[in-house]
Amino acid sequence: MSNTATLVYDGKQYELPIVVGTEHEKAIDITSLRADTGLITLDSGYANTGACRSAITYIDGERGILRYRGYPIEELAVKATFVETSYLLIFGELPTASQLADFRALLAEHELIHEDMRHHFDGFPPNSPPMAILSAMINAAGCFEPVFMAPDDDEHFMESAARLMSKVRTIAAASYRKSIGKPMNYPRPDLRYTANFLHMMFSRPHRLYEPDPVVVEALDRLLLLHADHEQNCSTSTVRMVGSSHANLYASVAAGVCALWGPLHGGANVAVIEMLTKLLESGEKLETFIERVKRRDAGVRLMGFGHRVYKNFDPRAKIIKASCDALLERLGIHDPLLDLAVRLEEIALSDDYFIERKLYPNVDYYSGIIMRAIGIPTNMFTVMFAIGRLPGWIAHWREVRISDSRIDRPRQIYVGPAERSYVPLEERG
Ligand code: ACO
Repeated sequence: MSNTATLVYDGKQYELPIVVGTEHEKAIDITSLRADTGLITLDSGYANTGACRSAITYIDGERGILRYRGYPIEELAVKATFVETSYLLIFGELPTASQLADFRALLAEHELIHEDMRHHFDGFPPNSPPMAILSAMINAAGCFEPVFMAPDDDEHFMESAARLMSKVRTIAAASYRKSIGKPMNYPRPDLRYTANFLHMMFSRPHRLYEPDPVVVEALDRLLLLHADHEQNCSTSTVRMVGSSHANLYASVAAGVCALWGPLHGGANVAVIEMLTKLLESGEKLETFIERVKRRDAGVRLMGFGHRVYKNFDPRAKIIKASCDALLERLGIHDPLLDLAVRLEEIALSDDYFIERKLYPNVDYYSGIIMRAIGIPTNMFTVMFAIGRLPGWIAHWREVRISDSRIDRPRQIYVGPAERSYVPLEERG
């Protein structure tokens, strides 16, 4: 195997080094391309661009492989908790019992938000999108938190990571309580991360919500499955903002905004809306699929397709199994699940989807789990954000402890060539 690639341009030959990753994935290193040749590369949507070297998550989209720090997602999903997995992503190794206890203690210690922050929630109009509140409140929380200085110091960083993870969960639950006009619930230090979140979401002043272990386990797994996904849109955003040395809160708040879009984290909402519309309208599923294929008004089969997975999304497989188990144990029959299964069957046997290698992604069944738990649709993407947070933190830290430069892509300019200013009275 050659360790350089040859570029021939304008009668000259250039040798470009090949960079090889742990799993033998290869990249052409073009660091000196512009200086040597005057050329840049153009890659719409960055589909072929490696933006960094990263040691956090490995994906093989052709073989449906996802590993956090080397551990297969299938193994972590059944053996680890979300908090343990968060530690793994952020610090690179599974925690020892005492490291995990310390991390949990810090999560409990920092679960309250500053009392003054409660007033900020009042500034949002009713029905504000929870993702807008979440992003704004994460930035606001950054104003109440100590300035964080040492990304390369594990002990200090453990506290910063725990502060952010714990507060984001409290903010998320508070934003929901605010949106339904109900009092916010203070966290309960006796409950672990996910159970505590459910308590803050659903307890009432005189009726404590006692989290069902089955529900806690299903939600914890869902968060774990969302915890990282290498250079996706929101994580790349966090990395890019962090590359300017913006603080952790500001960088994560930007990540929340990127996640909001329906082509990214917002897809879990779009899936439920699509299924509900289909159920209510009674439209034949085959007719709907025909509309998708014709791209009538840009309609897509939401929850299908992925930039990287071209075989199957391993998270979707686990989520579907988890969804079946949860609904059975809670004795829930959700007509949207039946519809989703039938729609999936039709799509997976249709040439349009086969040829384009479109399979259910993580968002296809996750909404059905959240509905069963009682989480309202407008909170789905917020749940995704809580899950993705450890990944964002890990990537932000990786950027800050590396000697990377500020992210600054180039472009090919296609606007007007140079022209002279035309005075107002002479413009037609
Ligand atoms: N329904 C119908 N057709 C689709 C779909 C879909 N869900 N996804 C892709 N296609 C088609 C495209 O129209 C395109 O067809 P063409 O080659 O004939 O033009 C082809 O498949 C390739 O699709 P692209 O849009 O180029 O794929 P890209 O990698 O840019 O987009 C994305 C990936 C955004 C996930 C896309 O598949 C999509 O929009 N899916 C629906 C939204 C969704 O579920 N998003 C969640 C993604 S997972 C996550 O963010 C957690």
